[in-house]
Amino acid sequence: MRATIIGVGSAVPDKVVTNNDLAKTVDTNDEWIRTRTGIQERRVSDNTTATSDLAILAAEKALKKSGLAIERLDLIIVGTTSPDCLFPSVACILQKKLGASKAAAFDVSAACSGFNYALTVASQFIENGFYKNVLVVGADTLTKYLDWHDRGTCILFGDGAGAVVLTASPNGSGILANWLKAEGHMGDKLIMPGGGSRDPEEKNGRFITMDGKEVFKFAVRVLEESIREVLKKAKLEISDINLLIPHQANVRIINHVTKKMGLPKEKVYVNLHKYGNTSAASIPLALDEALADGKIKNGDIIVLSGFGAGLTCGANVIKWEDNNA
Ligand code: UT7
Repeated sequence: MRATIIGVGSAVPDKVVTNNDLAKTVDTNDEWIRTRTGIQERRVSDNTTATSDLAILAAEKALKKSGLAIERLDLIIVGTTSPDCLFPSVACILQKKLGASKAAAFDVSAACSGFNYALTVASQFIENGFYKNVLVVGADTLTKYLDWHDRGTCILFGDGAGAVVLTASPNGSGILANWLKAEGHMGDKLIMPGGGSRDPEEKNGRFITMDGKEVFKFAVRVLEESIREVLKKAKLEISDINLLIPHQANVRIINHVTKKMGLPKEKVYVNLHKYGNTSAASIPLALDEALADGKIKNGDIIVLSGFGAGLTCGANVIKWEDNNA
């Protein structure tokens, strides 16, 4: 049995914030942001919108496309590092809102690799026969944790959610291989220090701080490593990839790595110009758009690769099965 995707959905807030909008409040400009990151605009949620509000929209779309009756859902896993509150989990909030009374539910905390981690966990449950139908969501609203005066971080992030419904398939398609890694010794390079049990009074602030250069170097290294390692596990070559969906953090990271690996541009999906870095949402959001754009067809080999705080990274190889939506 393999875990195959039978439904995909995504959601972003309505509010668009352009580079020029940011340039009104912080010392930056459209030209710098475009050339250094590829980002043109991002979506920002309002104060009344929590991560679960975006996650539920994405989940409902994915479930509708899958045609799966909600009572058949066995498990909900949400990759997020911006939950509505420390507990209950976003997954439990979704379980209640969806009325998925039979489903177990938990969150996975792996920042921008959260979707790769959650997908990997979900596929284990299906492959070993423990569960049959699993909803996996990647959702984050990191703009709530930005210092809007720090031009090194506030230009990068946006909000969003993406979801997939997985089911057990005997057809040899679906998730062929997963690969995960963590480099905890570099945890301080991308950190939200305030608000946790180490700093309950938020003396360190509740803002994301990042050593951009170090994270950039890590990203370039592990994007390549994750793709090579997961392909090795699936016994496939770079030339077998029909579409790579990398984490949408910076187009320079993506271009550098894919050029080095000999992957042509038409085999690499990029939508970060519209959304910036939406953390755990970035890969399922891109997957949903790639499908809508007609970039994925039956039998295609799709590689998903993410990297982010932790520091963490992960990748999944999927053989696409066309009962999918
Ligand atoms: O999902 C999590 C993963 N996160 C990432 O992947 C982020 C990885 N890092 C990056 O994407 C890049 O490091 C950044 C986009 C954050 C920064 O780009 P960079 O090419 O590494 O720029 P830099 O930090 O080396 O800064 C170059 C110059 C500096 O000025 P000086 O010292 O040369 O005069 C910065 O002060 O650009 C300046 N700068 C800016 N200028 C205008 C930094 N940020 C900005 C800005 N607008 N927003």
